[in-house]
Amino acid sequence: MEFKNKNVVITGGSTGIGFATAKAFIEEGARVLVTGRNTDNLEKAAKQVESENFRTLVSDTSNLQGIAVLEEYVSNSGIKIDILFLNAGVAIFAPIAQMTEEDFDYQFNTNVKGYYFTLQKLMPFLAEGATVIFTSSTVATTAQSYASVYSATKGAVNKLAQIAANELAEKGIRVNIVSPGPTKTEGFEKAVVDEETKKQFASSTAVKRLGDPLEVANAVLFLASEKASFITGTELLVDGGYINYTLQ
Ligand SMILES: NC(=O)c1ccc[n+]([C@@H]2O[C@H](COP(=O)([O-])OP(=O)(O)OC[C@H]3O[C@@H](n4cnc5c(N)ncnc54)[C@H](OP(=O)(O)O)[C@@H]3O)[C@@H](O)[C@H]2O)c1
Repeated sequence: MEFKNKNVVITGGSTGIGFATAKAFIEEGARVLVTGRNTDNLEKAAKQVESENFRTLVSDTSNLQGIAVLEEYVSNSGIKIDILFLNAGVAIFAPIAQMTEEDFDYQFNTNVKGYYFTLQKLMPFLAEGATVIFTSSTVATTAQSYASVYSATKGAVNKLAQIAANELAEKGIRVNIVSPGPTKTEGFEKAVVDEETKKQFASSTAVKRLGDPLEVANAVLFLASEKASFITGTELLVDGGYINYTLQ
């Protein structure tokens, strides 16, 4: 049990990649707190895991009040966080001509402001030797049509994470990025509704399929582990070869 009694906080851990990662950490003996906005999603997740080591909290990461709920919970619990997985993210695909201010703010508030201030507010509660992992995306590197705002948020995430790695290194804290390619999650199903586009995503990876959330979770566990002790400020692609295949 590699993560026995380690305290893990995952934002956006009720479905998809966050949930798969929560389950993987639980299996390795960790105590995991996951957040989300929707109580039903959190309750469903808790029912599936059925473990005392799995805790849930309603906390909307897109605004400072929501982040304060998480900060207060962690502060009151008296724990130090060993692994912080900043993962809650949303995507809306539309041509630039049609993107609304509301959709722009929704994505930036969740994906950028949310990560930034969650890190800032939870920094005092990070244990010595803690690790922080940001979920970015292959879109931070590619220039996919209709993904302008989402891609810009993930480009920003990469830069925040790299600078956080430099700033937190003196505290012995490692910070890394995991960038999934197209991965079969609830969020993916919501953002990519038609079957044809889903097939296109699958065939644009070198391995000709979508990723499984557990495959991303495995990469997160590696980055959080002692095996990655000399790795900080890096981006680990978990994309079935998507970037190289699409850029060839
Ligand atoms: N799936 C992909 O193909 C893919 C590819 C590259 C990168 N990613 C990234 O991977 C991360 C996870 O995505 P996913 O595909 O696993 O999506 P998902 O299944 O929709 O999971 C997203 C999680 O975040 C929560 N969430 C969303 N907005 C939130 C907010 N404002 N505050 C708190 N929690 C919030 C959701 O719960 P509630 O809705 O209940 O709040 C859910 O638990 C995101 O950062 C996404 O950008 C995904």
